[in-house]
Amino acid sequence: MAEATQPNIIPSARSIPILQAQHITLAFGAVQALSDVSVDIYTGELLAIIGPNGAGKTSLLNVINGLYHPQHGRLVFKGVERRKHLRPYQVARQGIARTFQNVRSSFLSQALYWGRALQEEQTHRAYVERIIDFLEIQAIRKTPVGKLPYGMQKRVELGRALAAAPTLLLLDEPMAGMNVEEKEDMSRFILDIREELGITCVLIEHDMSVVMDISDRVVVLDYGVKLADGIPEVVRTDPRVIEAYLGVGHAEPSPPPALRERGRLGVEQ
Ligand SMILES: Nc1ncnc2c1ncn2[C@@H]1O[C@H](COP(=O)(O)OP(=O)(O)O)[C@@H](O)[C@H]1O
Ligand SMILES: [Mg+2]
Repeated sequence: MAEATQPNIIPSARSIPILQAQHITLAFGAVQALSDVSVDIYTGELLAIIGPNGAGKTSLLNVINGLYHPQHGRLVFKGVERRKHLRPYQVARQGIARTFQNVRSSFLSQALYWGRALQEEQTHRAYVERIIDFLEIQAIRKTPVGKLPYGMQKRVELGRALAAAPTLLLLDEPMAGMNVEEKEDMSRFILDIREELGITCVLIEHDMSVVMDISDRVVVLDYGVKLADGIPEVVRTDPRVIEAYLGVGHAEPSPPPALRERGRLGVEQ
């Protein structure tokens, strides 16, 4: 049991956790959403969280961003223990942003200028222009989000999160409902966010070929318990993971297209 919960990564390569969630327990009445879950998120990594529906993935993100307050456990961000009952906007100010499973923004412009103080506007405008360029959404900046194709809506939602200039970005199923091409685009944006903007990313995703292709490490949750934590190659062959998640109704992931090699801008990476 114990060895499977140790991350199978080279400690020297990623030895500084930006965030540590330690012994998190969260219950809603009789529903145990998270049971003694500990996860370290290392600076600069792309960590995937997988698990069946109801496993506690969204709850864990909600705990990290201050939406839910666990009954037990603690959070350490950049080496400092978070005080209890911090609100989501306070967590956001500390540099943790997230996207939600459902798109929330109305206009791109509103979405990207959300939450900023007036005196910061000039600097922020320049940053937002960079994000708009980065996500290649110049052409749709005046279009109501509801009128955009689904893939573009999710890209605006990503822009909204990036506009907060986070150091840690939490992505809750950003590719759900997307077609293959939209998933490839989103995958490349996520890789570029990590590599070009230097933002640590946590990704909840059901598509195993995407997870295996782009993530550095995978945490598996099942019924609120952490089942496995390690590099994708090891996690995908863990018998308990196969039984809980991959085995039934999930095909063995096919060899993924090498997104890293292609790069969104056609640059070898
Ligand atoms: N706000 C809430 N109130 C009551 N139960 C909740 C709430 N949020 C999550 N849960 C329950 O916690 C469990 C884990 O849910 P969730 O974290 O959304 O799972 P996942 O994202 O892995 O599908 C589920 O049984 C869900 O019904
Ligand atoms: Mg969820």
